Amino acid sequence: MKDFKDKVAFITGGASGAGLGQAKVFSEAGCKIVIADIRQDHLDEAKAYFKGKNARVHFIKLDITDRKAYTKAADEVEEVFGGPPQLLFNTAGVNAFGPAEASTFEDYDFVVGICLGGVINGMVTFVPRMIKSGRPGHIATVASMGGLMGASRCAPYSAAKAGVINLMESYYTALKPYNIGVSCLCPAGIKTNIGESSYIRPKHLENTGYNTNEKTVAFMAHHYSFGIDPVELAQIFKKGIENDVLYVLPFPEPDNVMKRLIGRMVNYTTPEGMKRQAELDKQMMEERKNNPNPMMEGAEEAGWGMAKEGLNWVKDARNK
Ligand SMILES: NC(=O)c1ccc[n+]([C@@H]2O[C@H](COP(=O)([O-])OP(=O)(O)OC[C@H]3O[C@@H](n4cnc5c(N)ncnc54)[C@H](O)[C@@H]3O)[C@@H](O)[C@H]2O)c1
Repeated sequence: MKDFKDKVAFITGGASGAGLGQAKVFSEAGCKIVIADIRQDHLDEAKAYFKGKNARVHFIKLDITDRKAYTKAADEVEEVFGGPPQLLFNTAGVNAFGPAEASTFEDYDFVVGICLGGVINGMVTFVPRMIKSGRPGHIATVASMGGLMGASRCAPYSAAKAGVINLMESYYTALKPYNIGVSCLCPAGIKTNIGESSYIRPKHLENTGYNTNEKTVAFMAHHYSFGIDPVELAQIFKKGIENDVLYVLPFPEPDNVMKRLIGRMVNYTTPEGMKRQAELDKQMMEERKNNPNPMMEGAEEAGWGMAKEGLNWVKDARNK
C-alpha cells in the first residue's frame, strides 16, 4: 500500500508506545485513525495529544482478548467510518520476565493470550470484513526480534511472537489474491511503557512465577528508555508497508540481522553446529562481561528476571 489518504487504520494498543507512534505517523499520512486500547489513562493521554490537531481519530476502549467486544468494536468502526479498516495494525502487547521453568499457566495465558491470541482475534474479526469490502488493504503486525530466538527469561513472550511471525507468513500468502498485503515488524528495544504490563494483568491471571514489583517495573522504565523512538519506528514500518516487505527489521542491514538469527537455528541442526554455536555464545557472554550494557544497569539490584520468592528449586537465571 502506497497511498494512505482517507484510509481507515485500526490500531490496537494505539494509545501508547509503538501504537501511538503509528497513530501519529499514519494520521499525518492522511489516514482516519481508530485507536483501540485497554488502558483508559493511555486513551485519555492520546486524546489530549490529538485534541486540536487536524486529525480524524476515533477512540475505543477494547480488550483484544475479548472476542465479543472485538466484534462490537469492528461494528463501531463501520458505523463511524462507513466500512471496515483498510489498514489493521495488530500492535497491542505485553511482556513478563522470569525463568522459563518458573512460568505458571497464568504467565502463559496472560502473555500468549494478548500477544498471540489478541492478534488471532484481530485477524479473525477483520480479515473477512476487509475481503468482503473488496478494497485493497494491509495488515501490519508488531512481533519482536524476541520471536526469532528462544529466550530463557521470557519464554511465553518469545513463543507468542514466534507464533505471530509464522502466522503473518501464512496470511501473507493467503491474502495476496485479495490485494491485501501483510507486513510484520520485528523490533528490538522501543522507548515505550511496556514495562508497566503487570498493571493490566487481570485478577484471574495474577498467579505468576516471576519476581514482579515496583522495583522491576522501575528497572524496565530505565531499560526501555534506551529504545528506538516510536515515531521513528513507525516511519520505518511505513516504508516497509509501502514496499510490501513481509518482515520489517528496523536495522540498517535487516537481511544480515535475519541471517545471523536464523544461522543460530541452522547451527542447532548438527553436532558440529551445536559446538559452533556454543563457541559463539561463549564469545558473546565474554563481550557482555567486558562491555556491560547500560540498559541492564540495576537489573540485578531490582531482582529483574528472577523467580518469585519461595521458588527455591529455581537456579539464579543469571548464573545459568
Ligand atoms: N518496547 C519494546 O522494546 C518492544 C520491542 C519489541 C516489540 N514490542 C512490541 O511492541 C508492541 C507495542 O508495545 P509497546 O512497547 O508500545 O508497549 P506500550 O505498553 O507502551 O503500549 C502497548 C499498548 O497496548 C495496550 N494493551 C495491552 N494489552 C491490551 C489488550 N489486551 N487489549 C488492548 N490493548 C492492550 C496497552 O494498554 C498499551 O497502551 C507490543 O506488541 C510489543 O510486544 C515492544
